[in-house]
Amino acid sequence: MKLWTGRFSKEIDPKTNDFNSSIPFDSRMYKEDIEGSIAHAAMLGRQGIIAAGEAEAIINGLGGILDDLESGRLSIDMSAEDIHTFVEGELTARIGDAGKRLHTARSRNDQVALDDRLYMRGLADSLSAQIRELIGVLCNKAEAYANAVMPGYTHLQRAQPITFGHHLMAYAEMLLRDLDRLADCKKRMNISPLGSGALAGTTYPLDRESVAAALQMDGVSQNSLDGVSDRDFCVEFAAALSLIMVHLSRFSEEIILWCSFEFRFIELDDAFSTGSSIMPHKKNPDIAELVRGKSGRVFGDLITLLTVLKGLSLAYNKDMQEDKEAVFDAADTVRMCLTAFTPMLDTMRVNTDRMRAAAAGGFINATDCADYLVGKGLPFRDAYKAVGMLVALCIEKNTTLEELPLAEYRKICDLFDEGVYAAISLERCVGERKVTGGPAPCCVRAQVDRVRKLLSGAQNGSNENI
Ligand code: ARG
Repeated sequence: MKLWTGRFSKEIDPKTNDFNSSIPFDSRMYKEDIEGSIAHAAMLGRQGIIAAGEAEAIINGLGGILDDLESGRLSIDMSAEDIHTFVEGELTARIGDAGKRLHTARSRNDQVALDDRLYMRGLADSLSAQIRELIGVLCNKAEAYANAVMPGYTHLQRAQPITFGHHLMAYAEMLLRDLDRLADCKKRMNISPLGSGALAGTTYPLDRESVAAALQMDGVSQNSLDGVSDRDFCVEFAAALSLIMVHLSRFSEEIILWCSFEFRFIELDDAFSTGSSIMPHKKNPDIAELVRGKSGRVFGDLITLLTVLKGLSLAYNKDMQEDKEAVFDAADTVRMCLTAFTPMLDTMRVNTDRMRAAAAGGFINATDCADYLVGKGLPFRDAYKAVGMLVALCIEKNTTLEELPLAEYRKICDLFDEGVYAAISLERCVGERKVTGGPAPCCVRAQVDRVRKLLSGAQNGSNENI
């Protein structure tokens, strides 16, 4: 039986009902729907809009429905139009006429906007917890490999020496920004639209602020049309999730490269790798590839939301029902990716010898060699040119800067002396890069300390942004 009986003379066409119904996906918001209704009913009672006894009956009835749904004694009727209709129908079946008073001074338009906000607030919290866990793993690994020299790349060409710990902490920084973005979009999400009604508010003397406070929200929306029409928070949330996926996808790409036989910088644990059905020797980084691949669907969800909203007149339009599947898909995808990615990273083996050998072989100390000449008084451009000639000579002679005899150095520039070999040693090149944020082992440890402090502050609630 539909809510709108009275005006209509027949039931909705069954296939059209399936098309119109949102219960297959909005049923997951049952808890938020019930919590919102309890807060609303309590306020109606406090304000004398319904009798205190009726408010109590509604609140108890809703509590019973929530308990029964959580324990499995009650299952959601998938033929209901949406979760709001289901809960209200079940309430009225249980407590009779008082149940019919729940919807006083409320519309499904402000109700669904509230449910969306409460549910997404929970999603933002659980995804943030997963990201903090990943950052924690990165800190542990970075600490363990603070001294492990590896080549840093630009254009995927060996460029300058860094440490593996430093490389990992770059991802920790990206993920910290992701936490910040989630916390920021939660600020605008955590606003109650209840009281906006269908679009034009209501004539009842509501206490909107007390409902928001009961739901641990930070305030109430300030225009009833905007209250029911706003889905910016869905877009912001999907955008934050898209950037998380960009970060995980870039990281995955590197993991895939590092696992290749050409690099062999890391090896993934067997529990997080797959084999081939035909090639017996294969061990494939499928998890990282899937994470990289799944980024596309999250970006798609973001575009879906933007497109749904862009031509909508105020206020509520049914198009907005499409908000949920896009957001849920984005959040589910990020959750699944993080669930597999974090332990994959935690269990990887790191081949520090291979990393060091790669760092030793690609002239990545050439900048330091030029800086050595600058230290002897040569202008950097001249030093750059001299070292360029030395590199060309090494390539011709199939040798490295470390092995080139001093006599050859001096033929190109007589400022060179024995000290050049210490100046271009990898340990020195990395160890002297001590600028804040640099790859020197001491800097990596400082970065790890800083991030751990930020995380533990966030846990104690002292830094609300993460
Ligand atoms: N299922 C709807 C949605 O998700 C609930 C709001 C329905 N409101 C309406 N006027 N038809 O958007």
